[in-house]
Amino acid sequence: MSLRQPYVVVDPSLPRRVRIYEVGVRDGLQNEAATVPTGVKAEFVRRLAAAGLETIEVTSFVNPTWVPQLADAADLLAELGPDGLGAHRPVLVPNERGLDRALAAGVSAIAIFGSATETFAQRNLNRTVAESIEMFRPVVARALDAGMWVRAYVSMCFGDPWEGAVPVPQVADACAALMDLGAHELSLGDTIGVATPGHVVSLLDALAARGIARDVTAVHFHDTYGQALANTLAALREGITIVDASAGGLGGCPYAKSATGNLATEDLVWALQGAGVDTGVDLETLVATSAWLAGQMGRPSPSRVVRALAPAAQTPEPAASSDPASPAGPDPGAMAGGLGCGIPTGS
Ligand code: HMG
Ligand code: MG
Repeated sequence: MSLRQPYVVVDPSLPRRVRIYEVGVRDGLQNEAATVPTGVKAEFVRRLAAAGLETIEVTSFVNPTWVPQLADAADLLAELGPDGLGAHRPVLVPNERGLDRALAAGVSAIAIFGSATETFAQRNLNRTVAESIEMFRPVVARALDAGMWVRAYVSMCFGDPWEGAVPVPQVADACAALMDLGAHELSLGDTIGVATPGHVVSLLDALAARGIARDVTAVHFHDTYGQALANTLAALREGITIVDASAGGLGGCPYAKSATGNLATEDLVWALQGAGVDTGVDLETLVATSAWLAGQMGRPSPSRVVRALAPAAQTPEPAASSDPASPAGPDPGAMAGGLGCGIPTGS
């Protein structure tokens, strides 16, 4: 028998409410070697919303040859209708071509995504850091003119698989450059999951010194080294109230060696619920959603809470795909090097 809710002891060092920014549909599914059918993605979004997740990043309007898993962005939004649009349904947009596509689909919230390091800027955006800022500049200007909400991600904030340690001032420069474009919110990406709590606090302090406030800053931890929840709690104790998480712990980045899944939303909700922090999420509905998706994908969820509360979902039958051309079955390529990132480990 498993305990299905944590015992609640209010932790006064944490904020009373945390806004979870759900990235499983985008950051999670972009990393699956098998393309998940559009209908399954739409159902995933609806189930996440029903679980109480208010903000759900739905998809990416990137070059579809770079991320074929999300090439159905317009179709997904068309299928979702009002459930996929609005201020709480952001999509990733790298350039003006992506913005045109997003506007045509009726999107009103976007996220640009820069890099703190040159190597990742080149690998993820085919540009230097400076060139990528120039790529984003007209995107943000036009988006703001159109009344859109704009988030700016910065990747490799705590370490880079090619460059190693990334100096905090270098990260702060990248964050400031993106926020200077006019973005409303910043998300600090620990793309390869190497951050530790003290490092997180030092970056938040460096950002505060640059005028970037805690209340517009989100944290985005991948869990490669098992530090994502510890780092999140450290950030919350520093005044952060926006946390990126991925249902079932799905995730990674196809262009970042050794990026595994994000902090699992269930694991975050368990910890916050136990500390008396309101997230608006119904844990049982969320666990059922991740268990359902695990069945669709034919492989277990990495979330520890999903494993504890839905053990039957850990040996799922591969589901029949609604799209015969892209079966949603298990795919060893999705776990290259056992790391959960669908890229060759040498790249
Ligand atoms: P590029 O090849 O340099 O683009 O890619 P280009 O401007 O030279 O154009 C080449 C062709 O692509 C052209 O077509 C364009 O029209 C087309 P052609 O004329 O040859 O027929 N094209 C597009 N088509 C559709 N939509 C578009 C688009 N853009 C160009 N938006 C680009 C540059 C930035 C587009 C490319 O590098 C790209 O798409 N990169 C995205 C990579 C990506 O999505 N990575 C994962 C997301 S980041 C992440 O996961 C990290 C995060 O989670 C935080 C963290 O964990 O750190 C956010
Ligand atoms: Mg990410």
